Amino acid sequence: MLYMPDIEMNKKTFGEYLRHPVFRVISEIVDERGQQAFVIGGFVRDLLLGRPSKDIDVVVVGSGIELAEAVSSRFRGSKLSVFKSFGTAMVKIRDVEVEFVGARRESYRRESRKPIVEDGSLEDDQNRRDFTINALALSLSAQNYGALVDPFNGLDDLHNGIIRTPLEPEITFSDDPLRMMRAIRFATQLNFTIEQKTFDGIAATVERIKIISQERICDELNKIMMSAEPSLGFKIMDKAGLLPFILPELSAMKGVERVGGRGHKDNFYHTMQVLDAVAQTSDNLWLRWAALFHDIGKPRTKRFDEKTGWTFYNHNFVGAKMLPDIFKRLKLPLNENLKYVVKLVGLHMRPIVLSEDVVTDSAVRRLLFEAGDDIEDLMLLCEADITSRNEEKVQRYLRNFKIVRRKLKEIEEKDHIRNFQPPVTGEMIMQVFDLQPSPVVGQLKNAIKDAILDGVIHNDYDEAYAFMLQRAAELGLKPGNK
Ligand code: CTP
Repeated sequence: MLYMPDIEMNKKTFGEYLRHPVFRVISEIVDERGQQAFVIGGFVRDLLLGRPSKDIDVVVVGSGIELAEAVSSRFRGSKLSVFKSFGTAMVKIRDVEVEFVGARRESYRRESRKPIVEDGSLEDDQNRRDFTINALALSLSAQNYGALVDPFNGLDDLHNGIIRTPLEPEITFSDDPLRMMRAIRFATQLNFTIEQKTFDGIAATVERIKIISQERICDELNKIMMSAEPSLGFKIMDKAGLLPFILPELSAMKGVERVGGRGHKDNFYHTMQVLDAVAQTSDNLWLRWAALFHDIGKPRTKRFDEKTGWTFYNHNFVGAKMLPDIFKRLKLPLNENLKYVVKLVGLHMRPIVLSEDVVTDSAVRRLLFEAGDDIEDLMLLCEADITSRNEEKVQRYLRNFKIVRRKLKEIEEKDHIRNFQPPVTGEMIMQVFDLQPSPVVGQLKNAIKDAILDGVIHNDYDEAYAFMLQRAAELGLKPGNK
């Protein structure tokens, strides 16, 4: 059962919670006009859950645009936007946005999300909504201000944490297949359960997700990712059979293969654990995506070897390479966020490998150089990645990670490698030796970088310059030499 701050759930009227002055103004206007209006949908749901919301939806039995115009004229400084073709209008009053729409009836055609819309009653309007908890309406008429209109017992569902469609689930989901994703997103965000028939409706409709634009699916995925326990959403998608349509690469990670009694861990469930562990320590959306994708290369690299058992060699690099296509398909941004996820996925084995060996300064410097400012996020990902059931093993890894972290700190303080730019640049090399851009310039530059990372010289201009002269001499180059 949910905790609903200062809301008494057996009440049927909630006028005292409709405190924003806009509600009273709407009430006066509709009463003068002999109309009925209701605040409805997500705002009511969130109000009753004690989640503050600034998006208010108002349904009027009549013209939404006319009501919006009248309301806007009563608030100085408000901003009115009219969307004529949708028959809706929005009034922005300081920090709240109120959307006005006439009550409508909708009928859908199979091939499209776009319904045929006609004027209707409040009941028609509630019928067309996705879930019982999203169909709750509060009256704005003066005589029953705040009265709950709840034909589908949405209040009970809200109370008991249940996602349920108002109509036959297959109708609701087929009308608008995005609602499958919304059901799963609400279940994840609110930690609600999808009622069995509603769940079966999703399972029976999964193919229809194909008509939904990837941008909308992506919005829902990001909301799932930002929930407290994002794995819930992916597990429901999997169970309902939706996951192969959205992220087949993740579906491919499911299952355990055995050869001669030797199995590997189920990489899907492992990933779910890592994702939740990262979500507990960070609200960085892109670190969470990195956690979801960190082992995405495993199915493609899986091999069985008589001696070593199951291996996933280079799965980190293979996974990192898969990401640009996945991001493109999912309509995730192809900017520095992709770069960051690629980097973390590519590097995610490094701290583990490092911690299994003697932690040398040179290996730590190289890791710092490659991870740069993302080193802390990489360490969080790697710590979350230790999900063994063998507690002793987990403790050993975590102890080793502590050593790695200490070394990272020491070496960064000493050598400032994190945002390291080699003190001698390619341009300088070309100038000193009078060279055109050529492979030898890169060779010298890399030799200097390696010497610093390996601790042969310090991260210092004079030492790097002297090193460059020495290495160049070995290659037969002299300053000013043509
Ligand atoms: N709605 C619907 N089907 C959809 C989208 C929305 O029936 N595919 C209805 C629901 O009644 C919903 C309302 O429109 O409550 C407002 O939708 P929206 O603002 O998109 O979502 P909210 O429910 O307010 O939730 P959130 O802001 O978390 O997306």
